[in-house]
Amino acid sequence: DQPASDWLRDSVRDEKSRGVFRVHRRVFTEPGVLALERERIFDRCWLYLGHVSEVAEPGSFVARKVGGRPLIFNRDRSGAMHAFFNSCPHRGAMVCRERQGRSNGFVCPYHGWSFASDGRLTGQPLPESYAPDLRGDPSLNLHEVPKLAEFRGFVFVNFDGAADSLENYLAGACEYLEIVSQHGEAGMEILPGSQSYGARANWKLLQENSADGYHANTTHATYFAYVKARDGAVLNNYVRGGFGRVRDLGNGHAVSESVGATPWGRPVARWIPPWGEAGKAECDAIQRRMAARLGEERAEIICKGDRNLLIFPNLVVNDIMAVTVRTFSPVAPDRFEVEAWALAPKDESAFMRDMRLRSFLEFLGPAGFATPDDVEMLELCQQGYAACSAVEWNDLSRGVLDEDGPAPAKQDELQMRAFWRRWHSLMTGAAR
Ligand code: FES
Ligand code: FE
Repeated sequence: DQPASDWLRDSVRDEKSRGVFRVHRRVFTEPGVLALERERIFDRCWLYLGHVSEVAEPGSFVARKVGGRPLIFNRDRSGAMHAFFNSCPHRGAMVCRERQGRSNGFVCPYHGWSFASDGRLTGQPLPESYAPDLRGDPSLNLHEVPKLAEFRGFVFVNFDGAADSLENYLAGACEYLEIVSQHGEAGMEILPGSQSYGARANWKLLQENSADGYHANTTHATYFAYVKARDGAVLNNYVRGGFGRVRDLGNGHAVSESVGATPWGRPVARWIPPWGEAGKAECDAIQRRMAARLGEERAEIICKGDRNLLIFPNLVVNDIMAVTVRTFSPVAPDRFEVEAWALAPKDESAFMRDMRLRSFLEFLGPAGFATPDDVEMLELCQQGYAACSAVEWNDLSRGVLDEDGPAPAKQDELQMRAFWRRWHSLMTGAAR
């Protein structure tokens, strides 16, 4: 066996002049690759932590895993946001066992050390046998994640204290996060609850799939047949109108977007359940108000367009029917876990909110029209990689020759190549 670094260097074959792009299947199966991904990707890239609305009030907190690490995301009594490692400085227990709540501090369940909402150690049961110098020692406070930053309400962490700024990292994705943040006149909020599920597949397969226009007609054939049978006119509208394209946004980020082409319209789905005149009138009114606030062009992009935004390495914002924010992490080379939230305008009507939640559940939800189909395909790929030594390469060449053209088609695989180029340069140490 070659050392990992040798074959890794050759694991992505990017031969633009020949119109060929290939990825070696060992990158989906090797434990050594996952260990290196943790070190060179998850420990160095900005990772999505949550949305500011989840910790709107002083004392509010959520506890979740980010890049495999347990964290507490909270707002302290004075209103400052923090991200702490959810591990007691005493002997390691997770200090916070609730998924979310409001509290002025945290008490470790093991020996009862207590911490203020800004992470300071405030109490130790039976303190008298500790050396007096240890009181107030910052190494005994909850440990903060080295970097925490927000862009348009989306909060990210970085485990690398020397990382570049979040905005530089997000590069061209800033424009799209801004679009998503502008849907609501009074701002955006994450709705209570989330969807959690897992699959027996490599985490990178989900990133590939999340903006893959090429698979829709085959993988989701049942869904399209259902929609066509129920409302053929809506589907025809989709096929004819507007335009769709994919864009490389830099640093491994990419978007697959439509403008003027969506049958579901925005800011909520028109498909499920049937939309009705009242809904259309409300949608039109929303667009008029949005045009007054942001201009006609931006209102058209938000209300009549859609986008699947991929932020390297593991955040997807599906601004399609509902707005689904989903992030996922590897658990093993052949297993990932997903958590997804619905993002919504704060001020929307009860009718719109109802439509949104149905869309959130019924399309990209874990038992929705789309996700079970997708998960099955990802698991089939992972199972197919058992043939790896005989069938070594994945092909992602669709559209390589048009890549620098005016508007690569939505069915192209440009967004995956953007991911893999970044992945490869981080894994081989060519970038950091
Ligand atoms: Fe937390 Fe001991 S592990 S108080
Ligand atoms: Fe799909």
